Amino acid sequence: DLGGGRRKDGLNFTAVTPNTEDRVVVPDGYDQSVVIRWGDPVLPGAPAFDFDGQTAAAQAKQFGYNNDFCGLVPLGGPGDRWLMVSNHEYSTEDAMFRGWKADSTTREQVEIAWAAHGMSVVLVERDRRSGRLTAKVDRRYNRRVTVTSEFRMTGPAAGSDLLKTSADPSGTKVLGTLNNCAGGVTPWGTVLSGEENFNQYFANAGTVTDPVAKARLSRYGLSGGASGRRWEKFDKRFDVAQEPNEVNRFGWVVEIDPLDPTSTPVKHTALGRFKHEGANVIIARDGRVVAYMGDDERFDYLYKFVSDEKYKPGNSKHAREHNKKLLDKGTLYVAKFTGDSPAAEITGTGALPSDGEFDGTGEWIPLAAGNRSFVPGFTAEEVYVFTRQAADKVGPTKMDRPEDVEPNPRNRRVYAALTNNTDRGKAGKEGATEPNPRPNNRHGHVLELEERRGDNTATTFSWKLLLVCGDPNAADTYFGGYDKSQVSPISCPDNVAFDSRGNLWISTDGNALGSNDGLFAVPVEGKYRGRVKQFLTVPRGAETCGPVVEDDFVLVSVQHPGEIDGTSADTPLSHWPDGGASQPRPAVVAAWKKDKGRICG
Ligand code: FEO
Ligand code: CA
Ligand code: CA
Ligand code: CA
Repeated sequence: DLGGGRRKDGLNFTAVTPNTEDRVVVPDGYDQSVVIRWGDPVLPGAPAFDFDGQTAAAQAKQFGYNNDFCGLVPLGGPGDRWLMVSNHEYSTEDAMFRGWKADSTTREQVEIAWAAHGMSVVLVERDRRSGRLTAKVDRRYNRRVTVTSEFRMTGPAAGSDLLKTSADPSGTKVLGTLNNCAGGVTPWGTVLSGEENFNQYFANAGTVTDPVAKARLSRYGLSGGASGRRWEKFDKRFDVAQEPNEVNRFGWVVEIDPLDPTSTPVKHTALGRFKHEGANVIIARDGRVVAYMGDDERFDYLYKFVSDEKYKPGNSKHAREHNKKLLDKGTLYVAKFTGDSPAAEITGTGALPSDGEFDGTGEWIPLAAGNRSFVPGFTAEEVYVFTRQAADKVGPTKMDRPEDVEPNPRNRRVYAALTNNTDRGKAGKEGATEPNPRPNNRHGHVLELEERRGDNTATTFSWKLLLVCGDPNAADTYFGGYDKSQVSPISCPDNVAFDSRGNLWISTDGNALGSNDGLFAVPVEGKYRGRVKQFLTVPRGAETCGPVVEDDFVLVSVQHPGEIDGTSADTPLSHWPDGGASQPRPAVVAAWKKDKGRICG
């Protein structure tokens, strides 16, 4: 039933085989094509991409580099049209410029990198006859947000002394967004995006001697001298020694309203500051909204935010403006997981404990609500700006790099990708725990969390591991109890998404099994629960991210194709997507069934 037929597991494709090809491989009966690539025009007047003639002015009108999260906001009206919002997580200078060296980087190169970061809003249309999606240079909606675009800080820490700089004595107006990794489309049609590894852009933290300031910087991974990209040479705000608070203005969840192209995007202080992978919102049964978030660092934490106010349905201006403020007032929590098996049964071999599951209960520990701190020794502003240190005080569970944490709209359960943690069990580090049961965790796992009584605002929950990833032939893997001879190998889960039937889709980053990264689907209910099937693979050196799963097409971001040791613009190790001797270009790819049939259900 490869062509048009429906499969018993509700996933209408045959698994693709792991491979190391320099192309996107989709199942038999499927087609795929690039929607937009790095350098393709986004704004009117953008020049065609010219690798060797790139300028900052051109890049500011073109699709940025290393697109990660991808979200679709439906655009009403005739036909299949959406605003596609993409994150441009980071620049890779030695792949973007021939012969690039940090010490001789030029102002123009730095400004190209600033323009290659941020986000893109692009109108995309689907041709129903061919199934193909194309990007349009739309005058009204298309937008580029870069390292120099204006953002507004909102929520309880906006205007805090901790956020004031010489350029912005108000502590509310920030230029740019950095390292935007994953994200989510909100029920009110905006997009949330996580500022993740922002520390890498800031220089000279090593010169700071004040012990409090130093500890704050260090907890966020800031130390040492020059930054890798040397931006501090061209803008002193990237020099911590000269502008100590600028770094506090990054590490937030940002919200952009693609339907209002002149709106100023915001940074939500109520959601805390850490290496935000992303944020995903669900409307709780009582109408309040809950955002789930991961802090992607070894031994860091899972968080959630519960709004004070309720979601207003509908698309009226009044409702949308109300909803866009929901993430400014509420309570920020951090997660503590407790296993239900004796510690002696968590052997570190990956063997299941005697109750047959890595599972248990947990609680959400409040950190702050509005101007009220629940953490001794921390003001509310300090909780929001130095969330990691505040959380450290209340005993949350150290996790194996929480990436995407996303509620499944069909069952209200929350799925967390814990991508890997090769430091677990090392000397001086925490060893195996029931929620993170493998030392030297190279392949990661996926945790399923069910809030008490299915109420997403609850402060207690139960949890179990859905997948312990890796080679299904290895004893230390677990596929939801499904027959492991019938599943695809999967390693390093990163982003999660759901199809309309509630199946979980997982994209991977850094496959430690030796083949390319990819996109996988797995039922979470019924007799096929745990049966992981690989839907596509991405080219060599690329990470799969930003999956969007519609009923009849899938979008993936193909981030950093060719990013393999030894690659550079002088010796590219991928030529995807343009082929020949071309430089690799990060891109968004659509895949669909040739017969335009449903992918799920
Ligand atoms: Fe940018 Fe956590 O991946
Ligand atoms: Ca157990
Ligand atoms: Ca990620
Ligand atoms: Ca990752």
